[in-house]
Amino acid sequence: MTTPADSGGRPAALPLLRGQKALVTGANSGIGLATAIALGRAGADVVVNYVFGREAAEDVVSKIQSFGVRAFAHEADVSDEGQIVGMFARMMEEFGTIDVLVANAGLQRDAALTDMTVEQWHKVIDVNLTGQFLCAREAAKEFLRRGVVPEVSRSAGKIVCMSSVHQIIPWSGHVNYAASKGGVLMLMQTLAQELGPHGIRVNAVAPGAIRTPINRSAWDTPEAEQELLKLIPYRRVGDPEDIADAVTVLASDLMDYVVGATLYVDGGMTLFPGFATGG
Ligand code: BGC
Repeated sequence: MTTPADSGGRPAALPLLRGQKALVTGANSGIGLATAIALGRAGADVVVNYVFGREAAEDVVSKIQSFGVRAFAHEADVSDEGQIVGMFARMMEEFGTIDVLVANAGLQRDAALTDMTVEQWHKVIDVNLTGQFLCAREAAKEFLRRGVVPEVSRSAGKIVCMSSVHQIIPWSGHVNYAASKGGVLMLMQTLAQELGPHGIRVNAVAPGAIRTPINRSAWDTPEAEQELLKLIPYRRVGDPEDIADAVTVLASDLMDYVVGATLYVDGGMTLFPGFATGG
């Protein structure tokens, strides 16, 4: 199903998600794009959600289809309830069900507190937090309706919330973003507790600094990258594939007993690197 050339130098993926149906929000750039492709390589049919950038979404669809699985792009704003309900309805029509939701779509609107507008506040909370709530709610309805299909997976459904190291690291100048990701932590844990008895696994992946458009200014000059590397004990900026592979394994039955966990994929950014030489 895959060749080494497909895998960007990584070992070819096992078909860990063979026959499963996945939906990835914000799947036409950055971490979402790499994740949608990784799930396809792992054997899943994939809905590629996006809000702007149809062409990029269609490119992701073609790439996924080249693995011999199904994929389609669907435009929807994760913070719009009607559009999300519509997207899940289309997924039910085309794929029949959902096994894996990756609630990934997210953005930043950075400003110092005293400059931050209420629009900047709301935009980030609406997309990063309310968007995950809406998608999780719709996915859970289908997981509960269908239950476990043992030939497909040991669980009745998996939700992977895309969080951030900033679910626990405070971040000056980004209070809307840090608050949204702190919210994602409690959203994820509460849903894991509520849905666990129904055989549904909810977990989070918390990326550190990953080379994507959201944080380009933090890595796109050698000076900026040097500064950033001081915050990363492993001394490498992450690639979207680092996150995509973690999501794929977390969504698979290899991780069937992992419930309500956050998998930090951050090169050690959460290890208080400032204390390596002081304190
Ligand atoms: C943010 C990036 C930032 C990284 C580490 C991510 O959640 O979106 O802008 O580089 O956290 O601070």
